Order: sequence, then C-alpha cells, then structure tokens
Amino acid sequence: MSEILNIQDLNIYPANAPGRYLVKQASLSLARGKTTCIVGESGSGKSLTALSIMRLLSPQLRMQGRVVFQGQDLSQLSEREMQAIRGRQIGMIFQEPMTSLNPVLTIGFQIGEPLQTHLALKGAALKQKVAELLTQVGIDPTRANSYPDELSGGQRQRVMIAMSIACQPALLIADEPTTALDVTVQAQVLRLLDELKQRLNMAMLFITHDFGVVADIADDVIVMFRGEIVEAGPVSQVLDAPQHPYTRALLACVPDAEGKKVLQPIRYDWLTPA
Ligand SMILES: Nc1ncnc2c1ncn2[C@@H]1O[C@H](COP(=O)(O)OP(=O)(O)OP(=O)(O)O)[C@@H](O)[C@H]1O
Ligand SMILES: [Mg+2]
Repeated sequence: MSEILNIQDLNIYPANAPGRYLVKQASLSLARGKTTCIVGESGSGKSLTALSIMRLLSPQLRMQGRVVFQGQDLSQLSEREMQAIRGRQIGMIFQEPMTSLNPVLTIGFQIGEPLQTHLALKGAALKQKVAELLTQVGIDPTRANSYPDELSGGQRQRVMIAMSIACQPALLIADEPTTALDVTVQAQVLRLLDELKQRLNMAMLFITHDFGVVADIADDVIVMFRGEIVEAGPVSQVLDAPQHPYTRALLACVPDAEGKKVLQPIRYDWLTPA
C-alpha cells in the first residue's frame, strides 16, 4: 500500500483555551488511489482536520501532533516551502465554492493561476492546458472567458475542481464540495471526482455528513464525534457493522427504503472522559 499522508495524534485547540480540544488525538493514514471519507455532525472537527493538513488553521488556533506527507513532516517546513506544496502537491476544494472564486476574474484566468505559479506555464501552453482542464471537468473550453456569475452552481464547482487538480496533486482534499448542489448535479460531480482520482492516482480525503455519498465513493471511512475519531475502517465494515453507538445513530438518520427518516438521540457520554 502506498501511504501518502499520515497524521499522528493531532490535537487542535484555541490558543486562549488549551484544555478545550476541538480535535483530540486524531490519527489517520491515506493511500494513493483511495478515497477516505470523514463523516460526522456539524462542529465535529472535520474541516479543522483538513485545514491543519494544509497548515491553514486560523491564527487563534494551535495544533499538536505529526502530519507527515510523502515522508516529510509538514510542521517542520517554512511557510514558503508550505506554499510550494499547497495547490501543487495537495489540492483543496473548500466548503463554499461561491466565496472561493474571485468574481472579477475569468474562470480561465483562475484555473491558469496555479499553473503559472507552480509550473511556470505561460502563453499558448498555458491556454492549451486550461482548455484541457475545462474539457476534463465537462465544461466547454470556449467558456474560459466567462466570469463565475455567468455559470451555474454545478459549473462553478467544476471550475473549483479544475483549479484543484490543475497541477496533478498527489492528494486532493474536498470539504463538502457537493452540499450546495441539487441531487443530480451532486451525483455528476461525485462521479467526476471519482474518475479524476483514479486517472491521476490521487489520494482523496472527502468530507461529508451524507452517508449516501460515503456509500457511493468511499474506500475507507472515518467517523468524527466532538473532535474525536470514534470509528474508522473500510466502508463495507463501517456501514454494515458499525461498532460505535454514534455511528449507529448517524446511520439511523439516513432515510430508509420508504424515505422515512429515523432520528435517534445522541448521547454525550459516549466519549471517553477528558
Ligand atoms: N477559529 C476558531 N476558534 C474557535 N473555535 C473554532 C474555530 N474554528 C472552528 N472552531 C470550532 O471547532 C469546532 C470544529 O469546527 P469544524 O469547522 O472543524 O467543524 P465541521 O465538522 O467541519 O462542521 P461542519 O459540518 O458544520 O462544517 C466547532 O465547534 C467550531 O465552532
Ligand atoms: Mg466543515
């Protein structure tokens, strides 16, 4: 197995409240060609875990633990070295696509930006590569001169995907990239991501709170609850034989065959005491 990212004992806490763990003792491992989904309710620490990999946590937060990417401990790198990794070796699609695109720049320019910065592409070669990327994500390359507000939500999300994979990263982090989309568009975007993951042999870390999405694309699943990983394993194991009561409660919220949602109370004494 080709491990690409290894996180050991990740803690995240506010600088002014060191005892209040937002992420606590989280460890995980990602491999090339595999999709790992992080699931968990709102506020469980999913986005913070993703941001800590990129060293993009807000300055009020502190982290401890080791984040090793391709054998390199990222905490040891300078900010400049880290910038060379972001967007080049690790791509990220953020939770809010509408706020991540710049409304006054064309989508072609924005997709070309990482190619200029990291690969020094310019002129005709740059234009050609942008056209290729647009085609890859299913947008007509003649749309390169469009502005974000001339596109649909699904198309904007495809632009975000094109930007994130422009430099063929080894790891792609996608934080709820389909939440804002309607169901059919969501299915198309998921299929696209899955296909790109295979073609580029990336590791994908996919954050969602939707078990339907998990069943669709995950190889492995990590379940987070109040900052802790309470369960992790292959998708079939976690979905078919969940061990932790929180996972069972989450699964019970998924609509059954008749579309009935069964909600279960979640108990906060499930966690190990602090
Ligand atoms: N800058 C910050 N300062 C203090 N607390 C923060 C900060 N950023 C996030 N938090 C808290 O950390 C916890 C985890 O946040 P995180 O964004 O990782 O949740 P999430 O699992 O991604 O939730 P969602 O599904 O809603 O996106 C939340 O309780 C949040 O309020
Ligand atoms: Mg989040």
